[in-house]
Amino acid sequence: MTNILVTGQPPGDCLDRLAEHGELEVWRGEEAMPRHALLEALADVDGFYSMLADAINGELLDAAPRLRVVSNFAVGVDNVDLAACTARGIPVGHTPDVLTGTTADTAFGLLIMAARRLVEGVDYVRAGRWQRWEPELLWGLDVHGTTLGIVGMGRIGRAIAERGRGFGMRVVYTATAPKPDVDAALDARYLPLPELLAEADHVVVATALTGSTRHLIDAAALARMRPTATLVNISRGGTVDPDALYEALAAGRIAAAGLDVTEPEPIPPDHPLLGLANCVILPHLGSSSRATRVAMADLAADNLLAGLAGERLPACANPEVYAAPGG
Ligand code: GLV
Ligand code: GLV
Repeated sequence: MTNILVTGQPPGDCLDRLAEHGELEVWRGEEAMPRHALLEALADVDGFYSMLADAINGELLDAAPRLRVVSNFAVGVDNVDLAACTARGIPVGHTPDVLTGTTADTAFGLLIMAARRLVEGVDYVRAGRWQRWEPELLWGLDVHGTTLGIVGMGRIGRAIAERGRGFGMRVVYTATAPKPDVDAALDARYLPLPELLAEADHVVVATALTGSTRHLIDAAALARMRPTATLVNISRGGTVDPDALYEALAAGRIAAAGLDVTEPEPIPPDHPLLGLANCVILPHLGSSSRATRVAMADLAADNLLAGLAGERLPACANPEVYAAPGG
């Protein structure tokens, strides 16, 4: 018997599809599946359809001796120790491409909300404070015609750059290396991070969270930004130091921030960042349109079923597993 564990409730009909290929256990709790229950459940699981809150590390893999495939319902795999999976010959699926446009839309929404103080405007109307049209009411910062700095020029970074071009923005970016195709297609310019931070009017973080990007945006980075600059983070909360960001926003060293992701996540309701008018925070909605979340669920199911069948995953986050001895 093939056993499949799903630690959330994917939309669409993919659970029906999975049920045709094995015995399903689906976690339906409101909170993430508790660690002890997860480790216990994995004892006889062959395929693991995982959520971002599941830390997939050596401890977990040790508790899952039969595991043949991990399929993460997300493009980001910072919750997965890829090397540990590769060492055990376990392919890890993720969901690139299908969420690129939706996530870039979210980034642009947050950018405009933060720069133009739109949430403050909404609150103002709701509070019954709107008396008349005033020339100086809630002045924000322009988005169009400014310089957009993108930290991380992957698929999503590029889609954000395309949107910026539509707003007549100049695009600068940082990446592990310059990308001549992006430069040519979007008239974009590669800059080292310190120069990008000094030059950009709006900085959007779109890089994967890894050991080398943890707290990439720290106090020193924020100090390089312009006092009129905004910071948007749609990557993972861990790329930005939240204490340093609070200090910079509270002291007006940068103008505003828009965060789709936080550290920790969820952010506690009494977190100081939530007390700032110039900080807009969303509950990790980057890819959250119906069409995109269903597409992610389907791709994650495809990955899982391919892994169980011993086939190459359609979207594999550790392709080196296919070259590794025993893989
Ligand atoms: C969500 O943040 C994802 O990585 O897909
Ligand atoms: C604003 O609504 C204007 O007409 O200037």
